[in-house]
Amino acid sequence: MREELEKLKTKALAELEAIDGEEDLEEWRIAYLGRKGAITSFLRGLVSLPLEERRALGALANEMKSLLEKRFAETEKALKAAEAARLAEKGRIDVTLPGRPVPLGRLHPATQMIREICAAFTSMGFRVVEGPDVEWDYYSFEALNIPKGHPARDMWNTLWIDYQTEDGERPMLLRPHTSPMQIRVMEKTRPPVRVVVPGRCYRYEATDATHESAFFQVEGLAVDDGITFANMKGTLYEFARRIFGAERKARFRCDYFPFVEPGVEMAIDCFACGGKGCRICKESGWIEIMGAGMVHPGVLERVGYDSSIYTGFAFGLGVERMAMLKYGIEDIRLFYSNDMRFLRQF
Ligand code: PHE
Repeated sequence: MREELEKLKTKALAELEAIDGEEDLEEWRIAYLGRKGAITSFLRGLVSLPLEERRALGALANEMKSLLEKRFAETEKALKAAEAARLAEKGRIDVTLPGRPVPLGRLHPATQMIREICAAFTSMGFRVVEGPDVEWDYYSFEALNIPKGHPARDMWNTLWIDYQTEDGERPMLLRPHTSPMQIRVMEKTRPPVRVVVPGRCYRYEATDATHESAFFQVEGLAVDDGITFANMKGTLYEFARRIFGAERKARFRCDYFPFVEPGVEMAIDCFACGGKGCRICKESGWIEIMGAGMVHPGVLERVGYDSSIYTGFAFGLGVERMAMLKYGIEDIRLFYSNDMRFLRQF
């Protein structure tokens, strides 16, 4: 019997040694230490023995039981510690891993162009102001020397707001250009005036590659004692060189806008072909970039400026057109079709 007990102990300890999982450990516990386990049945087998022997073997068996219990507790502790270490390793933060990139948006190409244009002018002393998209007839036309019935209205007589005064007039529209802001700025300030006005404009247009019904303009206005046509040419020339390259040449030709006199259309020599003629300049060697002119004395007088003292120049340019020229974009509709393949390029 003693030998049997010794064997049982060796076997149990050897098995325990080999265990590396909590489930196996539990099985082992049931097999040796459980209510129907090996030790219990050994003790039960002692009943038939004489008392002396039963006592001695019983004591031995109990000693062995406590040894196994002790070893069991140790093994259990070691297994738990190993498991905890494994989990900790798994959940460890590797501070050397590169972070997940945060998806970054970017500015719309029209916004970028507006900022670039405004930056060129602010660096020359202009201030940026904005005005309302819904505008009065007075600011859009009347105050700009375009009275009712004037043929120049045809070009801008476009999207009217469905609002009538008592005498049946509809005096409100979506501004077809940013020029109304010339008047609003002059009404509120005395010379010197130097502003640029970026803003969305609206026209009733059949859209095509070069026309959209909503688009951006940047208006400019400089009024002071003694401003000349040469000042205008110098300023706009410098602007064109900043946007399209220092080697640009500029050309000013007569054009007509009721609120300027004289009025001009400004062109730069084609930056794509250097003036030889290509697709971008439509074989002419020149690219028109804006309308401009000396502020009409009638406009100055209307806002209460003395036109015998004050003179100034104004200009207006199309933002998308600028960006199209600068980046070789062939269709203005690309700006507003939400095509990420297009937008991501800027
Ligand atoms: N407002 C004019 C347009 O929309 C452009 C312009 C502005 C011309 C200022 C001259 C002076 O076409």
